[in-house]
Amino acid sequence: MSIVITGANGKLGSLIIQQLLQKVSPHEIIACVRHLETGKHYVEQGITVRLGDYDQPDSLEQTFAGATQLLLISSSHLDDTVRIRQHAHIIEAAKKCKVEHILYTSFAFPEAGSAPLSYLHLATEHAIRTTGIPYTFLRNALYTDFVEKLDLNTAIAQGELDIYPGEWKFNTVTRWDLARGIAAVLSEPGRHKNKKYELTASSPWTFTNLAAALTEFTGRSVSLRQDPQIKNWIFGFLSKIDTRSASNDLEQLIGGPLTSLKESIRPFISI
Ligand SMILES: NC(=O)c1ccc[n+]([C@@H]2O[C@H](COP(=O)([O-])OP(=O)(O)OC[C@H]3O[C@@H](n4cnc5c(N)ncnc54)[C@H](OP(=O)(O)O)[C@@H]3O)[C@@H](O)[C@H]2O)c1
Repeated sequence: MSIVITGANGKLGSLIIQQLLQKVSPHEIIACVRHLETGKHYVEQGITVRLGDYDQPDSLEQTFAGATQLLLISSSHLDDTVRIRQHAHIIEAAKKCKVEHILYTSFAFPEAGSAPLSYLHLATEHAIRTTGIPYTFLRNALYTDFVEKLDLNTAIAQGELDIYPGEWKFNTVTRWDLARGIAAVLSEPGRHKNKKYELTASSPWTFTNLAAALTEFTGRSVSLRQDPQIKNWIFGFLSKIDTRSASNDLEQLIGGPLTSLKESIRPFISI
């Protein structure tokens, strides 16, 4: 088995490799990085490191050779139109290298979204299907990290969390849980071909749950204040993606419960 992973030095890629090492031999993993010198820590663990720059299609011709599975971690470029081109480079190279199976970190319930990233992920899924290569779409929910944009520490200090009015629900997950689920898929070759998984929380949480978690964490009461005048771009973004729909796919892949909301927000609280 030869599992090639792009974006191997990123936060998600690193966690996936960390999890995968508990399931397969390091000799079965090939980590693709943008600059070879940044892959030394992988070499020290017995992992092969190859150059994999999404912007340099020529450099990708040999990168995926011999891959039984290629995990394409979506590009972190801020322009979704550029990301489509970058992903196309990887997909074309995968076809040339005769990769046996492409796995892609897509976005959860993209059909219900109207944000540019929803179209990017759908377009990439379709591009992968044009190759005829078996695929697995790992449709990652929004990372729970987005709570960082809500300024939780100010909310704790003021005893009030400011939100835009609405019946918000969040199917978010941690990278840690995603990595556990994705590593499980990668370690079971053949079982997940031509499937798509909606990797979300099994039951979405609400801002009431968040305020309760903050209160429980700090012992200081935090209530919600709905403010239609709030100036925070995150609410506009959240309204363009499907944060409500949920699935048990991730819990089933992991074989147990996901990280609780309270634990997931811990890194964003400094008080
Ligand atoms: N679900 C969500 O809420 C959410 C939120 C943010 C992002 N995402 C998506 O999920 C992906 C993984 O998340 P993450 O937290 O691991 O992001 P990250 O830490 O920013 O990692 C992104 C990885 O992509 C690599 N990369 C970027 N441009 C590249 C290029 N031109 N060629 C080769 N590699 C390139 C980076 O390489 P270097 O290490 O060399 O920089 C890095 O390893 C992101 O890239 C993004 O598409 C999802």
